[in-house]
Amino acid sequence: MARKLIIAANWKMNKGPSETGGFLKTFLAKIAPSTSNCEVVVAPPFVSLATASELVANSNVELAAQNVSEYDSGAYTGEINVVMLKELFVRHVILGHSERRSIYGETDAVINAKIKKAREANLKPIFCIGETLEEREAGKLEEVLRTQVRGGLDGVSEKDLLESVLAYEPVWAIGTGVTASPEQAQEAHAFVRSLLAEFYGAAVSEKIRIQYGGSVKPGNSAELMGQPDIDGALVGGASLEAQSFLELIENAVAGA
Ligand code: PGA
Repeated sequence: MARKLIIAANWKMNKGPSETGGFLKTFLAKIAPSTSNCEVVVAPPFVSLATASELVANSNVELAAQNVSEYDSGAYTGEINVVMLKELFVRHVILGHSERRSIYGETDAVINAKIKKAREANLKPIFCIGETLEEREAGKLEEVLRTQVRGGLDGVSEKDLLESVLAYEPVWAIGTGVTASPEQAQEAHAFVRSLLAEFYGAAVSEKIRIQYGGSVKPGNSAELMGQPDIDGALVGGASLEAQSFLELIENAVAGA
């Protein structure tokens, strides 16, 4: 089953509008034509989306937001809704990132509400899941992934799932320089796909792309993308510098 590679840059709380502009000008000028069969997505902070939106308008690069409110509009100080994102031509939204879960207390139920709200506006969720080191060492990997996948996708239709991407990000590998080995990542991805098959059927599960995230770099992207159930990457640190992100994508495409 050929699934199109999808590589997304998660800039987290980095790059205001001027830095975003500088990055994208370099990046768009240098992106290799050989990577045109890979979906490339960048997720700048909210305040940089307008600048990014203008710059990527006539390119193959797509825009993601790093979060969105589960509510429509009104008295929610500090929040951003799906309509605002659509106005800036945002296509994807990262939801359930471990930093949102651990620092901002987002539960599976909140993430589920956000996924549904995103789909109402035809935004494509990049739905993140992953275990902590303690959970893995306690033998709870499968239990944690099952709870997160079931909770996050509760009541999400097959049609909406097909417009979503999952991202397996072991928390112990995020920003630590420690990457899951390709075998560890593949094992978890195969398990996540088996959960999707259980909930939606095998045919649907084969169509869903599952990104790996956690210290993906130019030096390991090829080997990771060579695994049968790894269909892309969600990249933090190594996406902050245009040259490094370009190399990471080129290597990923070569290795897939
Ligand atoms: P990292 O972050 O690549 O810096 O480990 C990945 C992520 O948090 O999405």
